[in-house]
Amino acid sequence: MDLTTKFLSIEFENPFVLASAPPTAKYDMMARAFDAGWAGAVVKTLIKEPVNNLHNRFASNKIGSRIISFENIELLSERTPDEWYEDIRKLKQNYPNKVVIGSIMGDAKEPTNWLELAIGCQQAGVDLLELNFSCPHGYPERGKGAAIGQSAEYSGKIVEWLKAEPSVKIPLIPKLTAAVADISYIGEAVAGAGADGICAINTIPSLMGFDLKTLKPKASVAGYTTAGGYSGAGIKPIALKCISNLVKRPGLPVMGGGGICNGYDAAEFILLGATVVQVCTTVMLEGYDIVRNMKKELTEFMSWHNFEKIEDFLGLGNKKIIKYSELDLNYKVIAYIDPDKCKGCGKCYISCQDGGYQAIEMKDKISIIDKNKCSGCSLCFQVCPSNAVSMIEK
Ligand SMILES: Cc1cc2nc3c(=O)[nH]c(=O)nc-3n(C[C@H](O)[C@H](O)[C@H](O)COP(=O)(O)O)c2cc1C
Repeated sequence: MDLTTKFLSIEFENPFVLASAPPTAKYDMMARAFDAGWAGAVVKTLIKEPVNNLHNRFASNKIGSRIISFENIELLSERTPDEWYEDIRKLKQNYPNKVVIGSIMGDAKEPTNWLELAIGCQQAGVDLLELNFSCPHGYPERGKGAAIGQSAEYSGKIVEWLKAEPSVKIPLIPKLTAAVADISYIGEAVAGAGADGICAINTIPSLMGFDLKTLKPKASVAGYTTAGGYSGAGIKPIALKCISNLVKRPGLPVMGGGGICNGYDAAEFILLGATVVQVCTTVMLEGYDIVRNMKKELTEFMSWHNFEKIEDFLGLGNKKIIKYSELDLNYKVIAYIDPDKCKGCGKCYISCQDGGYQAIEMKDKISIIDKNKCSGCSLCFQVCPSNAVSMIEK
């Protein structure tokens, strides 16, 4: 199976790239990631003035002990641009076949920092350059980060500044936020200004809530908090929707990420047309070696369908994402409950009673469907813990 892929004209040995985040905080971390098998990595976003981070800065949502989503109020790199340029040079020297992607942030109204950082990263040897228009916390209140990505005008203007500078030759990849009404509208603005590709998505604005025993908000910084960025498994559907939209309009090459936990998740992003996928939270929770499983899982998915290379299924699924008004109203299904599998737990009964069409009865501790009442909504299928429900065509 061939996992190689291309983004613009850059070759990746597989589609798995570390997103800009703590796992890409410095040279030796990125080197360990490359040794583990990641094809590329986006450096933690450079900013002119390195940051001081708050303590605590993470919070999480758990089911049992499993973290299903994550929140952070971390800012950008704690290291100076010069320290980064040195690391980037060393990475390109020692790992010439890996893809090193820069990431920078500047002001909405002032080109100097964008230009300086872009030229610095380019001279250090990055293959591609992300423009961080999407960090949802800390920076928007200073008119940067997601405040830029929420404005077509600012997003387009910054790409224009960089493209107008003849010494900036590196491909530019704005990293967009999902926290907009129409991500394609912002995508069109950056495409119109000359962006070479798009990366989506960053973390999503969120508030994790409270520890009800202490009344401290999460993550608590001396008893206070601020809205943060949501990531991990829970954000995948939001990310997929953005990728689907961006691949269609404006149609620039897309690096997709957000909520990728395994190789099957990656397959879904590629099915929508993302040629490369980015991962952050899963690596923070599981470590760099997770990429070995991801490659295995992606290969396994490909074998189910006799796909031999990434191109065989790239974008194949996006053709199936259509407008609501184009869906077939005459397509009818009905629930079927397999009496041999039903354990009589009553979950489908309760859901159908109070959230559906009262189409399920319990008889002798077995759920039975009333075909005349079933509306084919699939709520019983969603809640059944024993795989006893299937939706069959009427
Ligand atoms: C702690 C943390 C720090 C992050 N820092 C950055 C950053 O400096 N620059 C950036 O572009 N994205 C940053 N991100 C966003 C990630 O690159 C990624 O886009 C996001 O987490 C969604 O992917 P995931 O669900 O795989 O984590 C950060 C995410 C986390 C969790």
